[in-house]
Amino acid sequence: MRVLLIGSGGREHALAWKICQSKRLEKLYIAPGNGGTQLLGENISLNISNHAQIIKFCRDKNIDLVIIGPEAPLVEGIVDSLQRAKIKVFGPTREAAMLEGSKIFSKKICKENNIPTANYIEFDEERAAINYLKEQKMPIVIKADGLAAGKGVVIAKNFSEGKQAIKNCFGGTFGAAGKKIIIEEYLEGEEVSIFAICDGENFITLASAQDHKRAFDNDEGPNTGGMGAYSPAPIIDNNLSEKINEKIILPTIRAMKKRGTPFTGILFAGLMIVNGKKEAKLIEYNVRFGDPECQVLMLRLENDLLDIIEAAISGKLANIKLAWKKQSALCVVMAAKGYPGEYKKGSVIENLQNIENENIKIFHAGTKRMEEKFLANGGRVLNIVALGDNVAMAQNRAYQAIRKIDWKDGFFRSDIGFRAIEEKNKY
Ligand code: AMP
Ligand code: GLY
Repeated sequence: MRVLLIGSGGREHALAWKICQSKRLEKLYIAPGNGGTQLLGENISLNISNHAQIIKFCRDKNIDLVIIGPEAPLVEGIVDSLQRAKIKVFGPTREAAMLEGSKIFSKKICKENNIPTANYIEFDEERAAINYLKEQKMPIVIKADGLAAGKGVVIAKNFSEGKQAIKNCFGGTFGAAGKKIIIEEYLEGEEVSIFAICDGENFITLASAQDHKRAFDNDEGPNTGGMGAYSPAPIIDNNLSEKINEKIILPTIRAMKKRGTPFTGILFAGLMIVNGKKEAKLIEYNVRFGDPECQVLMLRLENDLLDIIEAAISGKLANIKLAWKKQSALCVVMAAKGYPGEYKKGSVIENLQNIENENIKIFHAGTKRMEEKFLANGGRVLNIVALGDNVAMAQNRAYQAIRKIDWKDGFFRSDIGFRAIEEKNKY
């Protein structure tokens, strides 16, 4: 099978690594890829927004399957374009990707189907939003409706922060994505990421994972794309997992099918576990794997990823049974100093050799290979992922490995996994 993978993050390096283990793989292209994917397949510079160019590439290279990593091309309708050109592709159509592309859309799906989520009101005008805000308890959450590269959510601690967030949205900080907003209730609890692979009608929930969104230790500092993750998440037991499937994932898949926009691909439910860890509420949907959650999931997944993806595309997920390594996996992200704000590119990362073994993998994100060297080329730069009999062991291995890497412009959190380790040492 000849595969084209779209994306350039740690998520895509992990997917590429897993795809390369498939006996069915003949050739892998990654567009645009990174310094790590270059070692597994051929990096290709394509303009992801230029669908005609991608279709031409697929035809020229006889691509059998295209896999889309990030959300932006999905929301732009890359799957629709490839399907029209009769090229097999894994991911939701533009209409189905609205679950991530519009927070108002996904809230409507929740409301119509009694899916538990934070109470909210939508606004398309600044003054009405500010007037409403005056009457509310704090903290409160302000969200731009559309895609805002992970920056469209503000948790306002007081009225003036909330007012500023509203003004920023309507003032154009997020362009068209901020023309409408929602103001929603603040949920107190523990966050968890649940992924379901879907074929339009059936779904299989993958292993659970937890991310660490804040930049610094103890969940302090600004929100980031994610500074580390582990899987499984001890907070999710079988009982809660069944409730999540029944009350959140299943009604969503049914609703999408019923409205004529069936969801095929990875449905990522960002959940808040509330009410003494017994109930899950949906914070938001994403329509792709999480990054860095994907890195820990790929290390634990035992199936051939191409088999699963093909089954999802052809509506045959019911035939698939997933198998996971019993071990825990934990990922620590190394980011460029300054991230998620301004940071420098181009510094050399040394001592990356001789770190990987059967329990340790390094997945690249923002790196570039120059001659024999790796240079930093983005905000999140490396992912050090370790397996262990429990989260504590995986954590220990990941930090031993990361301390061998010599990159003076980088930083990482030193407490990834703390919640799981505090909660239950047995995991
Ligand atoms: P999102 O971009 O929707 O994932 O939001 C970014 C982050 O903001 C989430 O991962 C949560 O940490 C936080 N967040 C979003 N909505 C809420 C909410 N209603 N209550 C508490 N935290 C929230
Ligand atoms: N790690 C969260 C995300 O990928 O959105």
